[in-house]
Amino acid sequence: MPVGVLGSGKYSPERRLTNQELETMVETNDEWIVTRTGIRERRIATPEQATSDLAYEAAVRALAAAGITADQLDLIIVSTVTPDMFFPSTACIVQEKLGAKNAAAFDLSAACTGFIYGLANASGLIATGMYRYALVIGAETLSRITDYTDRNTCILFGDGAGAVVLGQVPEGRGFRSFKLGADGGGSELLALRAGGSRLPASETTVAEKQHFLYMNGRDVFKFAVRIMGSAAEEALELAGMGKEDIDLLIPHQANIRIIQSALERLELPEEKCMINVDRYGNMSAASIPVALAEAVEEGRVKEGDRLLMVGFGGGLTWGASMLVW
Ligand code: ACO
Repeated sequence: MPVGVLGSGKYSPERRLTNQELETMVETNDEWIVTRTGIRERRIATPEQATSDLAYEAAVRALAAAGITADQLDLIIVSTVTPDMFFPSTACIVQEKLGAKNAAAFDLSAACTGFIYGLANASGLIATGMYRYALVIGAETLSRITDYTDRNTCILFGDGAGAVVLGQVPEGRGFRSFKLGADGGGSELLALRAGGSRLPASETTVAEKQHFLYMNGRDVFKFAVRIMGSAAEEALELAGMGKEDIDLLIPHQANIRIIQSALERLELPEEKCMINVDRYGNMSAASIPVALAEAVEEGRVKEGDRLLMVGFGGGLTWGASMLVW
């Protein structure tokens, strides 16, 4: 039997950080942010909330939607660039919170593409017969690695989590293709440089703000525009489908202009695209699962619909997947 999504869920912290508020923090303005990025507000976790707390909330909702209990899970994957700590993995912390005592658990690092990488891993393991049910979560508290004195980056990012439960689905449904890619040659374009074995935390790394996310926005933008279209086309081709077969595009929500360029390349009208970047900003690995869960909640996805998910991110990495709901 094919492997597909049995249920989805999302969680967004309540606190909204608006463009107007950012205007009081850095030299920027609402008009610049909206025209360059499409973002109007983002959600920010409370000081008490870490990534596993957001992940847990999304997971509870996905399990309820799938109609299975936590102890039925065989596997938990958390895709994130903002884990609670280096180790233990955030997935182990979520496993404990859920009481998913029969599940293996690990984190996956592929930045904004992490959720699609997670889906590919989990669905492959289920397809081999090794596991029956897997929970794949994309969760981030990017506010913790954002420098709120840097206008180039602080306007872009937000916190949130999305989750899906994967399992066997009837013939005709499920994942039809995955296209994953990486180019470590672009590893310096997007990075959190310090705190690892290359550059351990020290007074100097703190003074030089090297524990905040670094981004070369212009180069990432060019890469994103190129790769979103080509990854999407390759996933379609692997699925034996064409552009006309897409019922809903669920792109990584980094910037409205990047999404619009993907729509142009795929010759799709905006109605066939899930867009929520205006309300959440870029939530890295959480963006695609939150958009998917929101599309389901809004009734925009019905059984048999062909969904194309596509994302890009630090690494550099990219990924796309065709899924029949
Ligand atoms: N408000 C006002 N002006 C600003 C702001 C701001 N918030 N930020 C930058 N500017 C200024 C710049 O300083 C620059 O001024 P200059 O020409 O005098 O130097 C000017 O605006 C234009 O800057 P650009 O970088 O050319 O602006 P651009 O149109 O490229 O938009 C942006 C910048 C939004 C960052 C864009 O490059 C982008 O979206 N890049 C991709 C980002 C992305 O997707 N990142 C993914 C991260 S995912 C992950 O892995 C966590």
